[in-house]
Amino acid sequence: MKLPKQILPSLALSFAAALLLASANVAAERDPALSKIDPDVDPPLAPLPLPPAPPDNPITQAKADLGMMLFFDPKMTGDASLSCGDCHDPKQGWGFNDPISRGYPGTVHWRNSQTVVNTAYLSKLFWQGNAKSLEAQAPIANKGAVAGNGEDDVMEARLRQTPYYIEKFGEIFGTMQPNLGDAWMAIATFERTLSQQDTPLDRYLAGDTEALSAQAVMGKQLFEGKANCIECHNGPVLTDEKYYNLGVPRPFEWEEMGLNTITFRWEAYAKGVHEKYYREWKDDAGLYYSTKRSVDAGKHRTAPLRYLVYTAPYMHAGQFYTLEEVIDFYNEGGGENEFTDGSHGLENKTPILKPLNLTDEEKEALVAFLEEISGEEIRFKLPEVPPYGVAPDVSGLTQAQAKRIGLETYLAAAGQQ
Ligand code: HEC
Ligand code: HEC
Repeated sequence: MKLPKQILPSLALSFAAALLLASANVAAERDPALSKIDPDVDPPLAPLPLPPAPPDNPITQAKADLGMMLFFDPKMTGDASLSCGDCHDPKQGWGFNDPISRGYPGTVHWRNSQTVVNTAYLSKLFWQGNAKSLEAQAPIANKGAVAGNGEDDVMEARLRQTPYYIEKFGEIFGTMQPNLGDAWMAIATFERTLSQQDTPLDRYLAGDTEALSAQAVMGKQLFEGKANCIECHNGPVLTDEKYYNLGVPRPFEWEEMGLNTITFRWEAYAKGVHEKYYREWKDDAGLYYSTKRSVDAGKHRTAPLRYLVYTAPYMHAGQFYTLEEVIDFYNEGGGENEFTDGSHGLENKTPILKPLNLTDEEKEALVAFLEEISGEEIRFKLPEVPPYGVAPDVSGLTQAQAKRIGLETYLAAAGQQ
């Protein structure tokens, strides 16, 4: 994918400026009762700034191209049969359109696969918000047992056996051979290029009043007013990145389908939940898995709402197939799950959700708004992944070079012969 020129220079600065702008212009009227329940300031919807990048991993075209190749290369998973791109398929909204994602061969995942479009702007990744950067997220994905199930040394050895990667990693990172840590940097860079600054919403917010239809403008007013979506879905990516339990119902797959039940139970076990909860809890405890605080049970990160039209079904286990169903859910004031209904002595449902009394016309307007702000589909021609080659001759390496590429054990053994 060709990067627009303006993405390259001084990204961090422009992002900070946009955030400042957004927070200076805080939404005016608010229901006083609501301010008590949730006193934080809700930044208004704002145009998407250029993607930010950490100082030690600036965006360059060459790194994004390398990251794109790695994103679609199955060498980066356990049995080399699937890639990031299989669960984040450009034709499926850069996600996966089953309610619950496919998993590593022989497994299914336990949650809905999220789009990677516009993830550059998030500081908490996953439904549970448990990865704090794209650089940290990528290895979790490719090593996780029900996702990539890859092993560090094996994935790295495969890259080191591929002439294309030896050349590109050399040019970009200055290493003799590819290092896995650099691969995650490249993948993160590629993901940052999948951001969409030019949607009808961005144009509308920049002053082009024709950019949204009259129906969508009505939807926007409801979103910011009567329907109160703005309370949680705010700012440029339409998320406050906080956690709430909305009472999203349990996915039937977890009880009725063996492979799903196995994954759910394994995840709970691997995340170290208390034995009693392991036996009794049947819903996704979300933030609880990170904090182990029962008040957090069933809370998930507010989902970003750009690119929605391509990413059905919705919610953490794809509980709703259509945006109409999502709006009906909110119109009823959310739902119930075992962390809201008292079955384990917990009533964690957010008090922010209340029945909305929306008319049919209002519901349709909200759907039209969410559809129209999704922007153009990001289409993509899949690359041909690079083939393996013959291993490079390492005998002439100095000790320092060998250390850098992790070959010191090999050289020591060779020296003893
Ligand atoms: C087997 C399917 C699968 C594979 C392979 C996979 N993912 Fe994912 N991805 C998912 C699922 C499912 C989620 C949501 C998981 C969760 O929240 O626990 C997810 C979440 C994410 C997110 C978080 C998005 C957000 O809004 O927070 C990013 C970013 C991401 N994946 C990138 C990648 C990258 C990069 C790779 C390859 C290195 C990859 N994924 C490989 C299924 C997969
Ligand atoms: C109290 C905070 C809050 C409010 C208010 C709220 N949401 Fe959400 N929204 C969330 C959270 C949290 C999630 C993820 C929930 C989950 O998967 O369990 C979410 C998920 C969604 C999703 C699914 C996105 C996806 O990628 O699957 C849509 C669509 C959505 N919300 C739209 C809306 C609309 C429209 C409104 C107003 C009628 C609204 N939300 C009000 C917090 C909120």
